[in-house]
Parts: sequence; structure tokens; C-alpha cells
Amino acid sequence: MNNSIDDQRLHESRMDLYHSSGNGFVVFRNYISDDYVKHIVDYWTKYVIPEKSHERFVSKEFLYNGCPNYFVSSSNGSKVFYNAFWNPPCDAVTYEVAFRIAQLRNQIEAKISSADLFPFPSGRCLIPRVVITQNGENILVPHSDFGLDEPNPANIDLRRTQATLYLSEYGRDYTGTGFIYTNNQGEKVFLGKDLDIRPGDLVIWKQSNVHEIESVYTEDEQMGFVRMLFPCEDMKMNPHLSNEGRAGKASQGNYIHRAKALVKKIIR
Ligand SMILES: [Fe+2]
Repeated sequence: MNNSIDDQRLHESRMDLYHSSGNGFVVFRNYISDDYVKHIVDYWTKYVIPEKSHERFVSKEFLYNGCPNYFVSSSNGSKVFYNAFWNPPCDAVTYEVAFRIAQLRNQIEAKISSADLFPFPSGRCLIPRVVITQNGENILVPHSDFGLDEPNPANIDLRRTQATLYLSEYGRDYTGTGFIYTNNQGEKVFLGKDLDIRPGDLVIWKQSNVHEIESVYTEDEQMGFVRMLFPCEDMKMNPHLSNEGRAGKASQGNYIHRAKALVKKIIR
């Protein structure tokens, strides 16, 4: 479970991700061992009491610096947990694994190791998710992120990657299409199915390629498609900061202005 790789592996990973001859993704087999997988899966499928540790997710408008952890629980058995780094870890192993993957990804993307780890005002910040998908169709419609078709040019970032830490196994734990990724040659790859991705494998993939989940089916006794994701969220303004009245709005504007200037000064 390294948070960095040597120069040779780094070069190969970047070729796999970004070169037209590459796949657009790279697989780190057995990134975490079976005992780590079991611990994380047990925690999020058996032991967590979301009503105590998380608040119900309403919308991404409530993802802000210092926001609580959130959870989504659907009638089909699917669950999503948003676990922000600034909150005390619900599960220390999940927290540590997420932190290491974030740094590894930053190395691959040629960013400083702390990139997207802290909620700078008006920036993006990683909020790791544990996702358990049990049953459904058209779960993730085909789309790309940060590509050249982004309506807002500020959102174009072709080196951005997403990471999926697989915690369950296609066939044994779920069926359906699972995650489908369009590689750099425009071919669809059914990751769990075609590549025999095992629990504990980490897949880092270029986010501007089209990706989708057409279907996931889970029988009784199966736990579903369980994984961790590492989305860098667009941080919103803390809704608890006063913006009522003209004085409040002016003070909030000043706050943002000062904070931006400070951050710029620090990173120069
Ligand atoms: Fe996406």
C-alpha cells in the first residue's frame, strides 16, 4: 500500500494513462491485501451505523469546507458514504488507505502530494467515497469529466484521473455490466469482467474518457459492487457563514477575497 512508485513504474503508468497507445487506465494489483479488504468491507457493510456517524446527503451544494460526513441509502440496498478528511475517521483503515491513494494519484498526475487534499476556498477538494451498489440499470450514464467538451473551460483538465479501489469481485459478489470504461482506442472495456479485477486492486483511470455503469445485479447473500472512489469535489461556500443583508453579503465577499489572496500568496 505505497503512496508513491519508482520512476520506471511512474513512466509506465503515465504512458498507459495518457498515450494514445495506452489503455487510459492502470491497474495496481493487490494494492491492499485481503485482510485490509475484509476489514474495510466488514466496517462499511456490517458495523457502520450511518445515522450516528453521518448526515443524510441532500445535494452537492452542501459540500463545503468543514461539512459533515454524508450518506445516501437507497431502497434498492445501495449506499454511498462521503467521508471528508477533516472529520475524525469513522474507520482508521479506510482513512489511511484513502490518504495514500490520494498521494499516489497526485504523483502520477505530476502534482504536489497535498493537491486537492485541503479545502481551499473556491477550489476542488477530495472527499473519498465508499460506494455499495446492489441493483439497478443505467446507474451511471455514459459521460466524461474534465474533457474538452466541458461547457466551462475552467473545468477542462486532461490529466485528471479517478481512482477505483475494488472491494468486491465480479461474478462472486455481483453481476450485470459493472463498470465500463472506454479506452484510448475508443473500445469499451468491462473492467471487473474482462480484466478479472480482484478485491484489493486499485484502478487509476483518465477521467476524460467515457465511463458508465449500465447495470449491476445482486442476489441474496451477495454484497454488491463495493468500491472506494476519490472524487475531487467543487467546494461550495459554507452555508453557515452569514450572507443575510447587504452588510452580511459584503463581509462574505471580503472573506472570500482575502482568503483567495492569502492562498495565492502561500503557493507562489
Ligand atoms: Fe464520471
